[in-house]
Amino acid sequence: MEKGQFKDDMTRRQLLARAGATAVAGAASPILRAMERTVGKSRILGANDRVVFGLIGCGGMGSANMRNFMTLDGVDVAAICDVDTSRMPGDIETVDKKYGHKPEVFHDYRKMLERKDIDAIIVGTPDHWHALNLIHAVEAGKDCYCEKPISHDIVEAKSMAAAAKHYKRVVQVGTWQRSTKEFTDAIAYIRAGKLGKVVLCRAWISDTSHVGTVAPSQPPAGLDYDAWVGPAKMVPYAPNHVHNNWRWFMNFGGGDSVDWGVHMMDIALLGMSKDQDLVMPVSASAVGGKYAFVGEDRDAPDTVQAIYQFKDPDFVMHWAIGRDFPGRPDHGTEFVSAEGKTLRVWRGGWVVLDKDGKELPKEGVEETTGHWTNFLECVKSRGKPRADIASVAQTTMVCHMANIAVMTGEQLHWDKSKMDLVGRTGKNAIGYQREYRKGYTLPIYK
Ligand SMILES: NC(=O)c1ccc[n+]([C@@H]2O[C@H](COP(=O)([O-])OP(=O)(O)OC[C@H]3O[C@@H](n4cnc5c(N)ncnc54)[C@H](O)[C@@H]3O)[C@@H](O)[C@H]2O)c1
Repeated sequence: MEKGQFKDDMTRRQLLARAGATAVAGAASPILRAMERTVGKSRILGANDRVVFGLIGCGGMGSANMRNFMTLDGVDVAAICDVDTSRMPGDIETVDKKYGHKPEVFHDYRKMLERKDIDAIIVGTPDHWHALNLIHAVEAGKDCYCEKPISHDIVEAKSMAAAAKHYKRVVQVGTWQRSTKEFTDAIAYIRAGKLGKVVLCRAWISDTSHVGTVAPSQPPAGLDYDAWVGPAKMVPYAPNHVHNNWRWFMNFGGGDSVDWGVHMMDIALLGMSKDQDLVMPVSASAVGGKYAFVGEDRDAPDTVQAIYQFKDPDFVMHWAIGRDFPGRPDHGTEFVSAEGKTLRVWRGGWVVLDKDGKELPKEGVEETTGHWTNFLECVKSRGKPRADIASVAQTTMVCHMANIAVMTGEQLHWDKSKMDLVGRTGKNAIGYQREYRKGYTLPIYK
């Protein structure tokens, strides 16, 4: 495969994508319906069958997820895929050591999706690639463990959730706080009404990410930069724009409102909801900008104050990206009751405080299975995973609203029945919908 050769061609996958989209609209031709039946087929797994994985994106979290699955029984890794050859040797060696065989190595994830023996795909690419990776994977009949935030924008998020539903695929999103004890305890406590009536939620992160200023240069030999950029706008290569740092560039990521917002606001939304179908705001406003890291290459805001209003239940949610939060962890979620009690939860602990900050007694709930175990169980049972894509799509859209409100300076209005912004306000911002680079098309599922 030649470098950068990731663009659309009229392949079987393309036809299928169209078949799927048409089928959703209820007007599929018999030929397309037949293709859909045969090509998207997946294995039906028994309780003792191994779940065979393929990994797309052998970077920080993709590899971490693969290794987490490898600690569990009944798993194998058949293949890995990255557009940068330098990122794969560690994963090849890890798989070889554990299973006594090397994974097949791919440059084009679409070729990897053709392997019929692969049951589940880990999507560990940067945010701007998630929508295509995930939609193509479910079209190919694969279940997915997809990293958060699910998408680069709202339109992608909606189509991804609809595609997973259409193909009846199990999709767990990497918001693993939904499976750790401090967060499940806190959510259960709020839902049981033990804090009282909640009127305010706060979620926050301290952004300390310097990317410096680095001149554009030639990409290193092993990196297919054209394929790495994929559907995003082509910009000159610079080493501080790619691996790991891409999240600070709005062309590829969404800054901390999305990167950490999807973790911390997710907990607020879950606590305020009865189940995985989340309460959604009716309006959102935000201000912010790049005030702390002036002169650095990143364009994601480093300072944000966002306010969301909710109805039924009536409450306000505050999201902040700041420099420090004295007396509090550098990230977290708080619920504040009408009487002034606060429940604070962060990675590693949770407390209930009275209005003077004195700690109150609390009780938790039984520990759940781990996030990765939960996915494996659901792949076999066909149950709904704890961070089902339909649910985390909702959180992801709320996060994108913070970026859109900062960019437009306008108050946004949301209609949950349509799962969309009301009117045109905000719809021209990149967090709502992006123009895909020539040769790339987002399949739209509804
Ligand atoms: N759940 C969590 O706690 C958590 C933590 C960190 C990151 N993440 C998420 O994980 C995802 C990856 O983040 P990261 O920090 O590991 O990024 P990273 O830059 O370290 O890794 C991404 C990898 O994907 C590869 N890639 C890019 N385009 C590709 C393509 N088309 N096909 C195959 N490979 C491709 C890159 O070359 C790179 O190796 C992001 O969505 C991020 O938000 C989640």
